[in-house]
Amino acid sequence: MEFSRIAELERRCIAQTYSRLPVAIVEGRGAVVKDVEGREYIDCIAGIAVLNLGHSHPEVLRTLQEQASRLMHTSNLYYTIPQVELAGRLCELSGGYMSFFCNSGTEAVEAAIKLVRKHTGRKEIIAALNSFHGRTLGSLSATGQEVYRRAFEPLVPGFRHVEYGSIEALRRAVGKSTGAVLLEPIQGEAGVVVPPDDYLREVRELCDERDVLLVLDEVQTGIGRTGTLFAWQGYGVEPDIFTLAKALGGGFPIGAMLAKPEVMRSFERGDHASTFGGNPLACAVAGTVLDVVEREGLAERAKRLGGYLMRRLEELGERHSVIKEVRGKGLLIGVELEVDAGKVVLQGLRHGLLLNSVHGRVLRFAPPLIITEEQLDEVCRRLDTVLGELR
Ligand SMILES: Cc1ncc(COP(=O)(O)O)c(C=O)c1O
Repeated sequence: MEFSRIAELERRCIAQTYSRLPVAIVEGRGAVVKDVEGREYIDCIAGIAVLNLGHSHPEVLRTLQEQASRLMHTSNLYYTIPQVELAGRLCELSGGYMSFFCNSGTEAVEAAIKLVRKHTGRKEIIAALNSFHGRTLGSLSATGQEVYRRAFEPLVPGFRHVEYGSIEALRRAVGKSTGAVLLEPIQGEAGVVVPPDDYLREVRELCDERDVLLVLDEVQTGIGRTGTLFAWQGYGVEPDIFTLAKALGGGFPIGAMLAKPEVMRSFERGDHASTFGGNPLACAVAGTVLDVVEREGLAERAKRLGGYLMRRLEELGERHSVIKEVRGKGLLIGVELEVDAGKVVLQGLRHGLLLNSVHGRVLRFAPPLIITEEQLDEVCRRLDTVLGELR
């Protein structure tokens, strides 16, 4: 199918909620994808921090095929082996958390919001300005960006938003009716905003002091991306509840809300459910993703390659004054520009790069964790050309 036909069908038949780049991707392998016209691109965004193992990882494919041919779906009316095995793996890797499975990031956050209310009996959750937690009404109410919220009011009551990174702001906001503080360990959609070093530790202390739950939304940071399997492990801070989605399924949809047993046990039969949540296919694939991440040391690789890419991007910043700042952790990196990052993304396509712009002026890098140093060098070489062409 030609690109013009694809674009025409999309315009005519699909809700126009996305601003898509003018490229139709038909296949991918590792960190490289091919479009419908046969052009290749290095993937610097990995389906928005999803494909941590890269495209078409052979073990993921094998698990998908084997599990699909055996059992795809049963509902939660029954036990299935992949679901209990995945929960067991996550329990072991997290140091004892129990799981509730769903199908996306926003659903994982919804489950967390309900659990906070059920466990604490309190209605208020303090979240951060500029945060992003999803688009369903509960998660959207937690999201601290007016642009996503405006058209959909009234939202779910009980959410307040404070400056991200400021412990003082949180200290002032947490009160008697507060059930939880909900934060991203790094704000991805706000343009890869990394909090001050001590922030999450101080938040944990504040939550303990005031008997409030700490919920960390790891939908974007989880599964090795920031240099540890879960970002909280890198900060030495244990949340009461955390969420996963995106990279957990390596490209297959799955979400999870994890909580310490004493918190999760407040959920009783019938409190929450999902027809597809925890289906055998998604759970089997997620199990394979965790195996590969662990066996191939992909979290450590993200840390090493992230440091490397940050240095290379900073070098680019010495040559291109349009680069204002390079920041991030592991392979979640933001490059703040003095111009609209969307222009750079479009120009990047012409040079075989799948780049991503977020929050206006930020280029976000979240490549597959299996990307090589040579590919990162090539990305920087091409980006050098792209930035040169902006002048
Ligand atoms: C931190 C965070 N939470 C929640 C979500 C929502 O996830 P999903 O798009 O799978 O619903 C996102 C998506 O970008 C996210 O970055």
